[in-house]
Amino acid sequence: MEQQPGRIAVVTGGGDGMGRALVRQLAAKGCHVSLCDVNDDNMAETVRLANADSPSGTVLSSFHCDVSDEAQVLAFRDHVTETHQEDHVHFVFNNAGIGGPGSMIESPREAWEHTFNVCWYGVYYGTRAFLPLLVAGEGGHIVNTSSVNGFWASLGPARPHTSYSAAKFAVKGFTEALVQDLRMHAPHVHAHVVMPGHIGTGIVGNSAAAFGAPPGEVAEQAAAFRNNAPMTAETAAGVILAGVEAGEWRILVGEDAHTLDMMVRESPEEAYEDSFLARMTEQGTLANLARADG
Ligand SMILES: NC(=O)c1ccc[n+]([C@@H]2O[C@H](COP(=O)([O-])OP(=O)(O)OC[C@H]3O[C@@H](n4cnc5c(N)ncnc54)[C@H](O)[C@@H]3O)[C@@H](O)[C@H]2O)c1
Repeated sequence: MEQQPGRIAVVTGGGDGMGRALVRQLAAKGCHVSLCDVNDDNMAETVRLANADSPSGTVLSSFHCDVSDEAQVLAFRDHVTETHQEDHVHFVFNNAGIGGPGSMIESPREAWEHTFNVCWYGVYYGTRAFLPLLVAGEGGHIVNTSSVNGFWASLGPARPHTSYSAAKFAVKGFTEALVQDLRMHAPHVHAHVVMPGHIGTGIVGNSAAAFGAPPGEVAEQAAAFRNNAPMTAETAAGVILAGVEAGEWRILVGEDAHTLDMMVRESPEEAYEDSFLARMTEQGTLANLARADG
């Protein structure tokens, strides 16, 4: 992405992981950035890092907001317009997400719906709140983060994954439909769906925290997930921003995401069979995800 002085970007889940990396890279390009998160300490650290990276005069602001609560998302939108004193923005990254319990049989309904509400309604409410601000400008981008679980509803054998997968399929389908809607009704605004493979972030620990786990309870798993990933959050953010700049509406992030996408397209009927997983293992696709996460 070229230098973007004076452009306004909004990033949900900007306290850590890919969200933090997006905030830093956008700010380094001269964008004014507003981020939200549920973790205030992490947001403060993101702002500190982004300030150090960005040209003087760059406006950075943070706002406590749970994206699964529409009233809070609307309050975040009001914070953005008040902070920047503008009626429009240029980039919206609906990035916040958590993993969570995945069985329709065994998982508590409340936990299942919490994951779904953050991963799906977070994107939906973010789009409802900020799309008018993108339409009001001269050109804008809405960038919604799905996952490889937006086209492959599994984490491997013996691991039900219904809530996260349902939400991520919804984000993918919604954003693909938005591409056509915007072409017809607001052609100066572009929609992009992001589908990362395994990216080394703190999502395991942050998701456990979202369900009230004491700090450190999943420390080993969280470290393995982060350290064994084939791509860092910083590299992933660079891929996402390059995809937006290139006008790609579907942005696969990582070799594992590209490989899995091809495999599912080539043999969809096989996608949940042992033979498919064996081929994934042979190729090393998402190999460390399975080891780190379960
Ligand atoms: N890391 C991966 O391997 C991977 C793969 C595919 C998709 N994704 C998706 O990428 C996005 C970013 O994930 P990440 O890996 O950088 O995770 P992360 O945990 O490092 O960052 C996510 C941020 O979102 C925040 N957040 C969580 N719930 C929130 C809520 N209700 N409201 C506001 N903020 C909230 C967290 O506090 C955290 O700062 C998510 O949507 C995730 O599902 C991640």
